[in-house]
Amino acid sequence: MANLLLGQVLSFEGDLFAGGSARVDEALLIEDGRVLAVGPAARLRALRPGARVTDYGRDLISAGFIDAHVHFPQTAIIASWGKRLIDWLNSYTFPEEMRFADPAYAEEVAGRYFDLALAHGTTSMCSYATIHPASVEAFFDGAAARGLRVFAGKTCMDRNAPEGLRDTAQSAYDDSKRLLEKWHGVGRLSYVITPRFSPTSTPEQLAALGALWREYPDCLMQTHLSEQTDEIEWVRSLFPQARDYLDTYETQGLLREGAVYGHAIHLTPRERARLAEAGASLVHCPTSNTFIGSGLFDMGLAGSLRVGLATDTGGGSSFSMLRTMAAAYEVAQLRGQALHPSQLWWLATCGSARALRCEDRIGNLSPGMEADVVVVNLASTGAIEQATRRAESLWEQVFPTVMMGDDRAIRAVWVAGRPR
Ligand code: GUN
Ligand code: ZN
Repeated sequence: MANLLLGQVLSFEGDLFAGGSARVDEALLIEDGRVLAVGPAARLRALRPGARVTDYGRDLISAGFIDAHVHFPQTAIIASWGKRLIDWLNSYTFPEEMRFADPAYAEEVAGRYFDLALAHGTTSMCSYATIHPASVEAFFDGAAARGLRVFAGKTCMDRNAPEGLRDTAQSAYDDSKRLLEKWHGVGRLSYVITPRFSPTSTPEQLAALGALWREYPDCLMQTHLSEQTDEIEWVRSLFPQARDYLDTYETQGLLREGAVYGHAIHLTPRERARLAEAGASLVHCPTSNTFIGSGLFDMGLAGSLRVGLATDTGGGSSFSMLRTMAAAYEVAQLRGQALHPSQLWWLATCGSARALRCEDRIGNLSPGMEADVVVVNLASTGAIEQATRRAESLWEQVFPTVMMGDDRAIRAVWVAGRPR
């Protein structure tokens, strides 16, 4: 059965960092899990006279948010105090990830994570699991039960991690391959080859995962790149032959289209040039980069690269892509750039979809796209409501929600054409 949603329906044409534009329509028509049409309410009613109508008034109807880099196993340690990256990993992250040796715990946290993400309007995500294959199973089972389009992989680490959180080059290859063959392309699930980052993988492990990626070239590969200066120094000492951090991936076959690098803050000119040449994607994680004290991502890169937006939960300090847009705005201001609210919204939807190379399926509301939808109340708190009273344009109406909104702004979520 068709569903007709009335409100302020937001969609995008083109890249908002390269001359693209946003548009607003009165109505969205959904059928069989996909967008059938966007346009004037009367025209869409005529297309499907029997459609069930839901009137959202002045609410904004958008493609669901896409969180392009998250660690679902870190759900419970979000907002852990006082550490920078390496100490934060050793003090909080690794002990928590150890608990995922228990499949029942993995299942419980995966469910809790999905429910939190959906409550915040996030309908797709690209997640790291832990080194335990059961954590990948728990994540994909939870996503499939909710009908979500998701991306995830087993995190691989064969050094500089505690006993119990290390695999080997061979077991990382074997486990990743088995999980990939079981899950990749099943329904809305995609497997992502996932070396955590160069400090926790030997060159042999990176090479093994590079070889796996050559066998399955349509998969994504995700990892971390140049997040903190101490981390970069550490990489230099672990890989004395490498030209730079990116080179530790590049020489092992882990740089090409479909590579998705989180953070990518402190890049050299060579790294920038190679990333663009190779067609790689970067993911901006602004609440994490400020919370862990990593640095200020250069949004200027969006002109030459696919750039997505992400919470990086639990390094990030929120499950909300609205809070994440606000942080992206503030970080850009600190670099002297004012991002337009339309660009922030585009990053959280289309931008993340492009970074994950699925922009032909999700991240926008145009005919044929999968109908993952978030309905946002643009006056969800007293502070936001009073700030919108003088708004003369849609974006003046939206910006207070971008800067001050959270899960209270999420009126409804639709997944694959069905209301949650
Ligand atoms: N670098 C390697 N692992 C991690 C992680 O779990 N979170 C963040 N923010 N950075 C990392
Ligand atoms: Zn991360």
